Amino acid sequence: MSEPLLAIRDLVVEFGTGRDAVRAVDGIDLDVYPGETVGVVGESGSGKTVAMLAALGLLPRSGRVVRGQALLGGTDLLRLRRRALRRIRGSRVGMVFQDPLTSLHPSYRVLDQVAEAVRVHHPKLSSAEADARAIDVLDLVGVPEPARRARQYPHQWSGGMRQRAVIAAAIANQPALLIADEPTTALDVTVQAQILDVLRSARALTGAACVLITHDLGVVAELAERVVVMYAGRVQETGTAEQIFRGPRHPYTVGLLATLPRLEGPVLPLTPIPGQPPGPGERIAGCPCRPRCAVGRDRVECATSRPELRELDGTGQQVACHCPHDGTAS
Ligand SMILES: Nc1ncnc2c1ncn2[C@@H]1O[C@H](COP(=O)(O)OP(=O)(O)OP(=O)(O)O)[C@@H](O)[C@H]1O
Ligand SMILES: [Mg+2]
Repeated sequence: MSEPLLAIRDLVVEFGTGRDAVRAVDGIDLDVYPGETVGVVGESGSGKTVAMLAALGLLPRSGRVVRGQALLGGTDLLRLRRRALRRIRGSRVGMVFQDPLTSLHPSYRVLDQVAEAVRVHHPKLSSAEADARAIDVLDLVGVPEPARRARQYPHQWSGGMRQRAVIAAAIANQPALLIADEPTTALDVTVQAQILDVLRSARALTGAACVLITHDLGVVAELAERVVVMYAGRVQETGTAEQIFRGPRHPYTVGLLATLPRLEGPVLPLTPIPGQPPGPGERIAGCPCRPRCAVGRDRVECATSRPELRELDGTGQQVACHCPHDGTAS
C-alpha cells in the first residue's frame, strides 16, 4: 500500500486546564490513503469534530493539543506556523464543516464566497477569472443556472443548495483531501441523498481522499471504503467497510449496527445502546465502553484495564476490546 496522505498519530486534545481539563480526544490514530474515503462514526461528543479541527489548527481558544502528530504528506500540521497552515487549508485540504446553514456568510453573495475561496489561493487570477472558476465549480456540484443563481445571497438558497455551494468552495482548488463533517445531517432525507451524490461526484472529479464524519452509519455505508468507530475520544474499532458492517468485533460497534434498520431478512426491533456516553471530564477506570457493554460489564479486566487498539487475526481490522465478538455475522 502507498504512504498515507493523512496520518494522525496519538492525538490528544483537551479543553480547559488543570483539574478541570476535559479530554475530548484521547490518543487517536487515523490513516487516510490517497483517494480513499474513511468514514468516522460515533455518537455525539465522541470527539470526531474536535480531532479534525485540531489536525487543521482550528481549535477554539479553550482547546489545546496536548500531544500527537497530524502528518499531511509527511509534514506535521501541528508544527506549522499559522500562515503555512492557512495556505494548506482550502487548497490541499478542503473542508465542509458541521452546520452548513451557517457556513456561508449571510451578507455576501454566494458567488463572492466561492470565488474568494479560489482567489485566496490564486492571487494572480483576475476577479473575472475567479468568478468564472467559481461558476464552473457551482455547475459541477449541480447548482442550476449557476451564473444567475450565484449572484444571489445565501438566504435566497435552500439548505441543500447552500450545502452544494459549501462543497463547491471546498473543492474549488482541487484538494488532495476533503474533510466533510456531518455534511448531510441538517438536511431533509431527499436532499441528503442528493448531497451524497454531490460528494460522490466531487470525489470522482478531484480524486480527493475524503474523511467523512457522521453519526449516520447509513451515510458511511454509502460512501466509505474504511470505517473508524469512535467513542469517548478514542478509536474503538477500525477496518474496511465490509469488515465493520459484516463482521463487527467490538461490542460497541455491534450495538451501533443494531440501531440501523435492515432492509434484508426478518424485521427485527431496533435496539438502542443502553445508557449514555460519559459526560465531559468524567474519567472511567478500565474500558470506557464498559458501563454500556453487556459483554464486559461484570468482567474484572474490563473494569480495571483500558484496552488498547490491536489488530485481530492479521486481517487489518483493529479493535480496542478485551473480549471482542467472534466476528461471525451479527
Ligand atoms: N468549545 C468547547 N469547549 C469545551 N469542550 C468542548 C468544546 N468543543 C468540544 N468540547 C468537548 O469535546 C467533546 C467532543 O466534541 P466533538 O464536537 O468533537 O464531538 P462530535 O463527536 O463531533 O459530536 P457531534 O456528533 O455532536 O458533532 C465534547 O463532548 C465536549 O466535551
Ligand atoms: Mg461533530
